[in-house]
Amino acid sequence: MVKRILKIVLFSVLSVVLLLLLFYVYVSWDFNQRAKKSYTYDVSVPKISYDSANLVLGEHLSVIKGCRDCHENDLGGRVLIDDPALGRLVPPNLTKGENGIGSQYSHEDWVRALRHGVGPDQKPLLFMPAHETANMTEKDMAALIAYCTQASPVTRSLPEIEIRPVGKLLNFFGKMHMLPVEIIDHDFVPLADMDKRVSPEFGEYLAVSCTGCHYSTFKGGSPQIPDSPPVADITSSGNLARWSEADFIQTLRTGKTPEGKIMQNEFMPWKMTSAFTDDELKSLYLFLKNQQ
Ligand code: HEC
Ligand code: HEC
Repeated sequence: MVKRILKIVLFSVLSVVLLLLLFYVYVSWDFNQRAKKSYTYDVSVPKISYDSANLVLGEHLSVIKGCRDCHENDLGGRVLIDDPALGRLVPPNLTKGENGIGSQYSHEDWVRALRHGVGPDQKPLLFMPAHETANMTEKDMAALIAYCTQASPVTRSLPEIEIRPVGKLLNFFGKMHMLPVEIIDHDFVPLADMDKRVSPEFGEYLAVSCTGCHYSTFKGGSPQIPDSPPVADITSSGNLARWSEADFIQTLRTGKTPEGKIMQNEFMPWKMTSAFTDDELKSLYLFLKNQQ
């Protein structure tokens, strides 16, 4: 009798393991197919001018959009995450140095990467958050490209990017966007320019940069970075309801919340948010506070 029960238990466990394995084989196959797909888009290239006002704007955008967090301060690339389960995420060298993409990239390639999330070979860029740059105004896009294309050449050898099982599973369940090309509205028509005085509309434009971690609802949830604390709710249903504008600004400038929580930059990139101008932070506050 005991032997029979043991047999049944063993058989059930083995069946579950086999089913999970088959499921993962499917997820992995599906990911590889999607990562190989070709996408073609007509891109319109704004006029890129290298005057100093434009370069100052481009430099600011390269910080507040996180380019220099991921691609390294000198834009020469780095290994951002190397996790045996999740994958090795390697934002590449964007400069004109050896191994940099800068010397091969046309302006059209830059726009395609930043508005559509695909490389010059028409294949999806993995993990590169193009959904957070797709909505940029033509003026901001031109300034960012001007800044990136005049960066000093850096020579740095980096390993290949590799998405591992947990990365593929998180992508499958929509918890982590390894294929941003799939979530971009490719018919979106960008504005030529926008009024950057304090307003909720300007805040909404900027808040796209928070959606990667705080989700498009801004209500946070499970984190995507290994070992990160849960991502906070930054709408009026979270602590923000009690914060003044000054509290909000201080939190994003110092990484310390009014409740006394000290946030680590590697999980909540407050060094990036500390570079936002006062008007940008005030606009973000107005927009987020209006979110239910
Ligand atoms: C969260 C990290 C992250 C941020 C933020 C980020 N990137 Fe990337 N980027 C990546 C990764 C990872 C890749 C590699 C994609 C690949 O190899 O498939 C990449 C690829 C690229 C490429 C394509 C390079 C190629 O091999 O064709 C360009 C161009 C680029 N990024 C520019 C930018 C700019 C400009 C910004 C700021 C607006 C930015 N990135 C912000 C992670 C990031
Ligand atoms: C790389 C992921 C990531 C990005 C990008 C990000 N956040 Fe966060 N954020 C977090 C995490 C994780 C926490 C929780 C940190 C903790 O508990 O220590 C957090 C916490 C916060 C808090 C504190 C909330 C509270 O109640 O304590 C604020 C405010 C905040 N984020 C605002 C923003 C804004 C605004 C943006 C966009 C400009 C942004 N974050 C972008 C991951 C991120």
